[in-house]
Amino acid sequence: MNIHQIDSQQLNNKQTPFYYYDLQLLNETIASVKRAADRRGFHVHYALKANFNKRIVKHIQSAGFGADCVSGNEVQFAIDNGFPASQITFAGAGKSDAEIRTALQHKIFAFNVESIQELEVINELAGESGVTAHVSLRINPNVDAHTHHYITTGLDENKFGVPNSELEQAAAVLRNCAHIQLLGLHFHVGSQITDMNVFKSLCVKVNEWKNWFEERGTQIKVLNVGGGLGVDYHQPDEQPIADFEAYFEVFDKFLERESYQEVHFELGRALVAQCGTLVSRVLYTKSGVKTNFLVLDAGMTELMRPALYQAYHKIEKIGALPDSTPINYDVVGPICESSDCFGKNVSLPSAQRGDLIAIRTAGAYGEVMASGYNLRNEIRYVYSDEIGHS
Ligand code: LLP
Repeated sequence: MNIHQIDSQQLNNKQTPFYYYDLQLLNETIASVKRAADRRGFHVHYALKANFNKRIVKHIQSAGFGADCVSGNEVQFAIDNGFPASQITFAGAGKSDAEIRTALQHKIFAFNVESIQELEVINELAGESGVTAHVSLRINPNVDAHTHHYITTGLDENKFGVPNSELEQAAAVLRNCAHIQLLGLHFHVGSQITDMNVFKSLCVKVNEWKNWFEERGTQIKVLNVGGGLGVDYHQPDEQPIADFEAYFEVFDKFLERESYQEVHFELGRALVAQCGTLVSRVLYTKSGVKTNFLVLDAGMTELMRPALYQAYHKIEKIGALPDSTPINYDVVGPICESSDCFGKNVSLPSAQRGDLIAIRTAGAYGEVMASGYNLRNEIRYVYSDEIGHS
């Protein structure tokens, strides 16, 4: 149930702020990804970092997706929440020895390895434990994702992956790592990518690097192309489910894969962004010298994306009458930072103390990035099936 279909009285009774999760939309999104991926024999790992709220994760795990983890704790969480170790990948430029040991102990599907030194450390730790580590080598393909520079990961200047210039050396090190088996190659060029040409350029690079290895006699079984598919933050109701068909079709068409090669994806945002809404209450209305402020009871501590990336989230008044006259507001939070602002000059129906405000498309990188700064309360959440129909 979409946030606007709920009887506002029911929401009014809830203590704010909270994340509202529309489980029906989540399930429809999961079904849509599954259909498009299964049709092509593609493997999808859910990027847990986007949202590890337990019920959200349960729905995704039950659909049979794997898990893409970026810390030892995420690996452990994935195991504890029912993901088979054989479907868990572990990425990250700075895996600690303890985290590597956790993943080795669980015999995960693959480490996505980000540097030559990391290969050597994994080899050593695997040797100590008497196991073989399966790895995919993360290559930095130098593909511009044309997204916010903080969430671009595949350019030469980014810290992720092994640069082209070091591949020769990486291949040589791999040949000497007795406790490592190279499964495949890993790429991830960034997040919130809406231009399918970026993925097409990625495919061209994947083909090149796969051939490079195979020409040198190393068979590449897994082509892991990462995640990054974007969602529509501006019109969450018009296109609530990303176009997974179009996305997977690019890879189907442009990746040159052999019959023995599997294609793996690590999608986060596109699975969960639209099912989450941050619901907050107006604490105060205030006329500044140049603008009107709506001061909410949620701030950057509950949803950090606007403060961190100047990210746009659609802001709406819940239960607004259709003929209300719009006013331009700066919608801000209570935190003592000027960057604690959800939107400037937002046109909204006139609002008063106590009114509810919806901040949309907050299901990905929302709740998980909440912080305790200012000793704020722990974030609450409400699922759609806990609320009656209007
Ligand atoms: N794989 C790797 C190696 C990643 O680093 C990421 C995201 C993903 C997969 C999932 O990407 P997605 O499908 O969700 O785009 N906090 C930022 C996003 C950071 C993304 C980090 N890496 C935000 O709020 O926009």
